[in-house]
Amino acid sequence: MKTVIYPGTFDPITNGHIDLVERASSLFDRVIVAIASGAGKAPMFTPEQRAELCAESLLHLENIEVCKFSNLLIDFARSKDARCVLRGLRAVSDFEYEFQLANMNRAMYPGFESLFLTPAEHLSYISSSLVREIASLGGDVTQFVSAPVAQALDAKFQ
Ligand code: COA
Repeated sequence: MKTVIYPGTFDPITNGHIDLVERASSLFDRVIVAIASGAGKAPMFTPEQRAELCAESLLHLENIEVCKFSNLLIDFARSKDARCVLRGLRAVSDFEYEFQLANMNRAMYPGFESLFLTPAEHLSYISSSLVREIASLGGDVTQFVSAPVAQALDAKFQ
């Protein structure tokens, strides 16, 4: 069974992330969406809320598992019998960080491979932090996120 791990902070999951999971879902038997605790990023939503929003936003896909993790990504991957991670590349600016991450992970876990997919062009400019900012200032984020995420942001900033 081919498993891929798609890790991120997902604070919150956006349509760009969903697009990537949909693509991965058609390529792999199992896609594990792995919610990092995000300790260094001071996320707005708790890991539980982020996991719930991911699960609700991905209900239309069958081979998805949503998990939380707070250890090293490679250790989490080992615990899931996976040796392949998926990351999104939205623009050239993503490349340097992703290149570093991929090589660090492979240095620690030889044989651990990083795969990259690009989201649909019209979703390539979305980021979670911009979505949070727009929502916090009363803007409409419904074209960037799923309905459950839009509702959660509404509730947060009411
Ligand atoms: N659509 C929309 N947005 C996307 C996206 C896509 N397809 N792909 C990335 N992004 C955005 C996110 O919204 C986020 O935006 P923001 O920073 O403005 O909020 C940004 O890109 C990066 O977020 P994300 O993809 O969630 O990655 P991350 O940098 O938060 O996560 C981890 C990095 C969790 C994978 C990494 O820190 C990790 O592996 N941590 C575990 C600990 C570990 O092993 N550390 C050692 C690493 S060598």
